[in-house]
Amino acid sequence: MGGELATQVLNGDAGSIAAAARVLARGGLAAFPTETVYGLGCDACNAAAVARLYDAKGRPSFNPLIAHVADGVAAHRLADFDASAERLAAAFWPGPLTLVLPKHASCPVTELATAGLDTIAVRVPSHPVAREILAAFGQPVVAPSANRSGHVSPTTAQHVLADLRGRIDLIVDGGPAPMGLESTIIACIDAPTLLRPGALSRAAIDQILPLKDLSSGAAGEEDEVPLAPGQLASHYAPRARLRLNAERVDAGEALLAFGPAQIAGAGRAVAMLNLSPGADLIEAAANLFSHLRTLDACATSSIAVMPVPEVGLGEAINDRLRRAAAPR
Ligand code: TXA
Ligand code: MG
Repeated sequence: MGGELATQVLNGDAGSIAAAARVLARGGLAAFPTETVYGLGCDACNAAAVARLYDAKGRPSFNPLIAHVADGVAAHRLADFDASAERLAAAFWPGPLTLVLPKHASCPVTELATAGLDTIAVRVPSHPVAREILAAFGQPVVAPSANRSGHVSPTTAQHVLADLRGRIDLIVDGGPAPMGLESTIIACIDAPTLLRPGALSRAAIDQILPLKDLSSGAAGEEDEVPLAPGQLASHYAPRARLRLNAERVDAGEALLAFGPAQIAGAGRAVAMLNLSPGADLIEAAANLFSHLRTLDACATSSIAVMPVPEVGLGEAINDRLRRAAAPR
């Protein structure tokens, strides 16, 4: 990312809530407490803001993010709830439960935040500071734990500052996060399935409905407990073949370009989109999933993809491109 930001730390009073809502509205990054851990929030519908968020965390891949909303009504605008999801939401929201659900047809959350999946993780937190910020902003906020990638989740404003000072706009200090453990994640796509154990106990969930355990289904792989559920989910895979690090465009191919350079055969591409004509990796990340989808929708069997440098967000962009290009 560009220069250092002057990271502000405010206590959780009314002024800080309004300040956080302003930061979110202009596409900035604001950390705030939830009942589980501190989250690093940004406008879920703003692809450039989401790209900056991945950059600030230093995530090497686009792990999908949890959309946080103020209440169940807002959650229903993002996702389709089956009967199990309705029961879990009624029992445990607001609170430390995240539901992974089919994305609603008119879900406004940017594809970068859901890493191109057709499912979305949704949560209604109970922490008063989080709730006030969500109510003041009035739009969904994606918020991964507010740590640098690979570090442990932060439970105080000081932890957040230690990891992210200079990389984010604001930290709202609401004291220690009461639970100190991330939310429990349950997928209600078909049978309700536990994706991540967390602050909501298994026993509490068992009172409401039986859960399938993701780790118990895989016979002979008992110790392969999934730690990053998003990596298990079936990622959006383009229909067309992706040809990475292309140095020319072949007949009949579409072109996913990066940067100002022209490559041979670009003029005959059946369709062309540029991730970032100015070679800005944040802009490229913001455009990645929508450009892939758009090119995939035009009748071509192959998309030539120009090289993207393996620095900063380029690492995550290339990770995603490699997955999309993998034979299946
Ligand atoms: O307690 C929490 O959940 C905290 C607070 C800030 O809300 N947030 C949090 O976010 O732990 P994060 O990004 O650190 O973890 C979210 C997890 C990731 O492992 C991701 O793979 C998974 O949720 N996830 C998100 N969307 C998903 C989806 N559509 N399918 C499967 N897994 C998903
Ligand atoms: Mg995390």
